[in-house]
Amino acid sequence: MTNSLCIRNATVVLPDQLQETDVLVEDGIISAIGRGLPNGKETLDASGLILFPGLIDPQVHFREPGNTHKEDLHTGSKAAAAGGITSFLDMPNNNPAVINAERMAAKKQRAAEQCVVNYGFFVGATPENLAEINSVPNVCGIKVFMGSSTGDLLVHREEDLERIFANGSRLIAVHAESERQIRDNTALLQGCKDVKAHPKIRDEATALEATELAVRLSLQYKRRLHILHLTTEEETLLLRRLPRDHKISTEVCPQHFTLTAPDCYEKLGTLAQMNPPLRSPRHGKALWQALKDDIINCIATDHAPHTLEEKDAPYGKAPSGMPGVETSLPLLLTRHSQGDCSLVEIAKWMSEAPARLYRMKNKGRIQVGYDADLTLVDAQLKRTVENGKLFTKVNWSPYAGMELTGWPVRTIVHGQTVFVDGQIQHGIRGKEIQFMEE
Ligand code: DOR
Repeated sequence: MTNSLCIRNATVVLPDQLQETDVLVEDGIISAIGRGLPNGKETLDASGLILFPGLIDPQVHFREPGNTHKEDLHTGSKAAAAGGITSFLDMPNNNPAVINAERMAAKKQRAAEQCVVNYGFFVGATPENLAEINSVPNVCGIKVFMGSSTGDLLVHREEDLERIFANGSRLIAVHAESERQIRDNTALLQGCKDVKAHPKIRDEATALEATELAVRLSLQYKRRLHILHLTTEEETLLLRRLPRDHKISTEVCPQHFTLTAPDCYEKLGTLAQMNPPLRSPRHGKALWQALKDDIINCIATDHAPHTLEEKDAPYGKAPSGMPGVETSLPLLLTRHSQGDCSLVEIAKWMSEAPARLYRMKNKGRIQVGYDADLTLVDAQLKRTVENGKLFTKVNWSPYAGMELTGWPVRTIVHGQTVFVDGQIQHGIRGKEIQFMEE
């Protein structure tokens, strides 16, 4: 039996333009776009609302297995749905880390049972698991921690990195911070309990050195490289100088152009601590400009929840990371309300580009034949972010107290409404994203 949904009168964000029109969904697929379409089993009047292609967050840490007191695939995916995100790519720095086929299969099994939106996973690289990273089925890419962060994944020696770049064709996603510089700077600032030291320990040079090495290896081996969460003006300048035929993409997190040092550390303490760190305003401006200039391709949140109790520890003991899936779209819509970007750009950065870069099948656009993952937005709606009223298990946000303009009002996954009227609907499950190999 056909399940159908007709969304009428929305301002639809098509790849290059906005169009006020209707969209018909049948059996989870977009089947028609235009006026004069028949009603569906369900028909919505979306006058005054914006219809985006379902947003894709290409970097989250939903903490399963091993740290489900912070988040799990169910709560993380509910938070994603509430943020208008219909698909996410989750990182392997779990406990135990997801570095082989068996652990990946267990994670996918759990995701199939628990995720309310669509999911894809990175496999984690170690110095020893070359065969596994190239053979684990259907992953979005290989995650390489070049510098240590949360968890025990680390590949920092150049010969180990070179072996990974030289063998295989899958996308390599790097956390680009130089382990040597992190260690040297930590030794220099030994015993410092002030979180304001964080961007000094993991300073600009720490990021740039690792990014330079990853770029060099990618160019040498013609290997697809994605640089995760770019944070410095210096790295944007490096990326502006790449040769034409490169295979390098990158992303930025909203916090890196929204929250700035040193005031974020004064206001939020270790809640503002993440890797790579929040930095001074010149970086935020350069990152935003690089996004506008297509040097940075997409937005990711690096949603990395830790509990308030854990974050309460003094600097040096507190873990790095902050939640973000519920606020990334509202932050971008707020920039739109201020005239800084268009709705088409938001769709490009948060849906089309991640789908294309990670070679997701049938995602990233509102187009006939594509999956009916859709996000309906009220671009005028103003709401203040409040701790204790979030879907993430840790229930805090670095943006608490901030009024944002533009919020998702309905999130649709494969034609089924998973979030509406501020509530998650029961019984909806996402699907595994299919990644096309070369
Ligand atoms: O701040 C961070 N937290 N950066 C990372 O790379 C990992 C993340 C986490 O998993 O907590």
